[in-house]
Amino acid sequence: MQIRQKDERAHSSVPHHVAIIMDGNGRWATSRGFPRVMGHQKGAAAVRRTVEAAASRGIAILTLFAFSSENWKRPRTEVSALMQLFMRALDKETEHLRENGIRLHVLGDVSAFSDSLRQRIAQAEERTRDGHRMLLNIAANYGGRWDIVQAARAAAADIASGRLESHDLNEERFASYLAEKEDVDLLIRTGGEKRISNFLMWQTSYSEIYFSDTLWPDYSSQDLDLAIEFFRGRERRFGMTSAQVADPR
Ligand code: IPE
Ligand code: IPE
Ligand code: MG
Repeated sequence: MQIRQKDERAHSSVPHHVAIIMDGNGRWATSRGFPRVMGHQKGAAAVRRTVEAAASRGIAILTLFAFSSENWKRPRTEVSALMQLFMRALDKETEHLRENGIRLHVLGDVSAFSDSLRQRIAQAEERTRDGHRMLLNIAANYGGRWDIVQAARAAAADIASGRLESHDLNEERFASYLAEKEDVDLLIRTGGEKRISNFLMWQTSYSEIYFSDTLWPDYSSQDLDLAIEFFRGRERRFGMTSAQVADPR
């Protein structure tokens, strides 16, 4: 079943699941002599633009990396500014998302967040839960390794309680314990760096990867279109030969 799904995706022109490492906010600001936080503010506007563009292009799932499990190491003032921005965005954007049929889901270890942020997240998820046009995942306090470990822990708990037989734990079943079970078709990283930085480690095992030099605050719908164009030009082989992809019988 997983193979069939992948085979269908080998021929689809719009990526089903796009994930973006939104990088470059700090450099955008410092190169202009502004404090880094201003880059994050501008970055929030780029999120809004990109969400709209992705929905209008027919992307089904958009997963945005907003705050990694390693970003706590940043200066306290930057971390708290990012938390404030996240709260403000939830307050400001939830209604807009709901009106546009976009369902919001937050991926990550939310237990580290303040009560008020957790409450806002839960409310925003609840208020947008009937959105069927696009799923918007915001990865916050997310780490790819954290995701795999929490999935392993949940699967182990189900095995211990008898809800799951260990021999039934295959790749598909394991994925169902992850924060997002769907494979990523197109992974984009802005800001010029070429690394994964502990994003979706399991889900990107067969992603096409597109690196853009655009700093996140400057990201536009044209940049997204370039990435989609790149994706359209790829031949996704999933281990097969080119001839097999062309004629999958
Ligand atoms: C990405 O931009 C946003 C977050 C990680 C929260 P950065 O803040 O990492 O920007 P650079 O990489 O320092 O330019
Ligand atoms: C990755 O960017 C995390 C997010 C975009 C939220 P970073 O800027 O934190 O990544 P590194 O530290 O440069 O690898
Ligand atoms: Mg960065």
